[in-house]
Amino acid sequence: MSIRHPWRVSALIMAVGAAPAVAQNFEYESNVGFPDFGFMVSPSDYKGPVFALADSFPETIPPLDPQVEQILSIDFETDPMAYVMAVRDYVFTGNIHGGDVADDFILQNNAEGIGWYHMPWQHWGTTGREGYHGLTREGPLAAQVLAPEQRNSSYAYAVGFYNGPGGFTIGQVWNDPYGGPDLTHMIDAMETGFAFPEGTVVGKFLFTSLGADQVPWLDNPLQWNAYVYACDVYPALACPDGDAMQSAPRVTQAMNLLQMDIMVKDSRAEEAAGWVFGTFAYNGGAAGATEYADYGAFCADIPGEGKNWCNLMPVGVMWGNDPDNADTFINSTPTETVINTDLQQTWINPDEALPAMHLGFNSRLNGPADNPTSSCMSCHATGQVPSVSAIMPWLDGVAIPANGTQASEAWMRWFRNFEDGEAFDEGLAISMDFSMQMTKGIENYIEYRGQDEAGRFALEYWGSDGGAPISRGATIPTQ
Ligand code: HEC
Repeated sequence: MSIRHPWRVSALIMAVGAAPAVAQNFEYESNVGFPDFGFMVSPSDYKGPVFALADSFPETIPPLDPQVEQILSIDFETDPMAYVMAVRDYVFTGNIHGGDVADDFILQNNAEGIGWYHMPWQHWGTTGREGYHGLTREGPLAAQVLAPEQRNSSYAYAVGFYNGPGGFTIGQVWNDPYGGPDLTHMIDAMETGFAFPEGTVVGKFLFTSLGADQVPWLDNPLQWNAYVYACDVYPALACPDGDAMQSAPRVTQAMNLLQMDIMVKDSRAEEAAGWVFGTFAYNGGAAGATEYADYGAFCADIPGEGKNWCNLMPVGVMWGNDPDNADTFINSTPTETVINTDLQQTWINPDEALPAMHLGFNSRLNGPADNPTSSCMSCHATGQVPSVSAIMPWLDGVAIPANGTQASEAWMRWFRNFEDGEAFDEGLAISMDFSMQMTKGIENYIEYRGQDEAGRFALEYWGSDGGAPISRGATIPTQ
């Protein structure tokens, strides 16, 4: 839903307690638009701001923001640190206000007028958006995957956002809030490339209910409230299966910032469909992290608790999947970060202040919340409609290779490089150009309509052949 006026005014009135309870905390919306969230605490128990989807998508490709022009001039291969930190600076600019962090990243309120947008149709289903900050439930965090002290498994919760060029593409596909997605732009782009135009930047924050007692680097946390499943919060209860999950109890919980992911459409990344991926881990305790806390024009000036956003330190950058390297190393319970210097298309931050990271398959880039058998690009390459291949090889029955062995050809199908516009299963599916939220949103819509109208859609047919639904991950089976 689009909003004409910022929420801050009424939030301030509420903060001083002068205003009576208000049903809406922002000025009236000009259109109903797409649903904003699927789960929220009852309004009789909460009077504060709620999440509103930023969906006033640009109808033409907007000019590049000067900061994006600067990012595209940095060489990500020779200076990946400068590249990824410039992206962090851009994501933060105008979105962090220096007061209560709950007011940060309300995209409609960007103080510099930089346009950022959310992906529709993430509200639907058991993992759908909650109503404080639009967080969706993500993949599982297995015990000890974050730190040796981590006794409990849990789930990550996350929200992603696209800048203007990315918002243009979202608006091409989701051009009618009352109708289904229009895939014309994505189909055309399989010929022409650049479904997402040059200079698209995507950011995403991941949060966890786990705290510093189990993950020491989450000390001095940055916290957002979220309305999450009670079974994802310590001491975790068992979560119900399948459809019962929809009605499983939720609670308002302070969640700790764990990770930030970024993607940049940069045509120089020729091996990887024109995408550069990067990730950051929250590091609130280590003194070594201060170098990052003051890095960049924006972080140097943030007052108050908002400064904690700047505790996100780079884990690494990837601009390809190193398809020729089939050596196997999977580090499910990291005690140290193992950097693989054989890789040509992944850079990992060598700073000793970086907490022990498991990374991805054979130390390709993956973040703390991600599956150690995968990599950012390995998983995102499967973003297509229908989801013919699962997000990870072992979900399609391919055996997980043992450490020290060569991975099979079947396994390495998930570690290919791609031309811009090329689908993972060419000829069977429409490429979503590495956007998992777009894939997931369309999958959600098809599922919803199928249930509502008791019918099946040709577009989902190949995706239903035992393939797993799009998700951020799954727990690795015991081997
Ligand atoms: C095993 C699968 C998987 C892995 C590994 C993975 N992602 Fe994703 N990612 C997803 C899914 C699924 C979504 C969409 C769901 C959501 O956001 O809730 C997503 C969403 C995103 C988004 C928001 C834009 C989009 O595509 O929807 C960004 C940015 C992102 N991931 C970056 C990364 C980075 C960087 C890495 C590596 C550090 C990574 N991802 C690793 C599955 C994965």
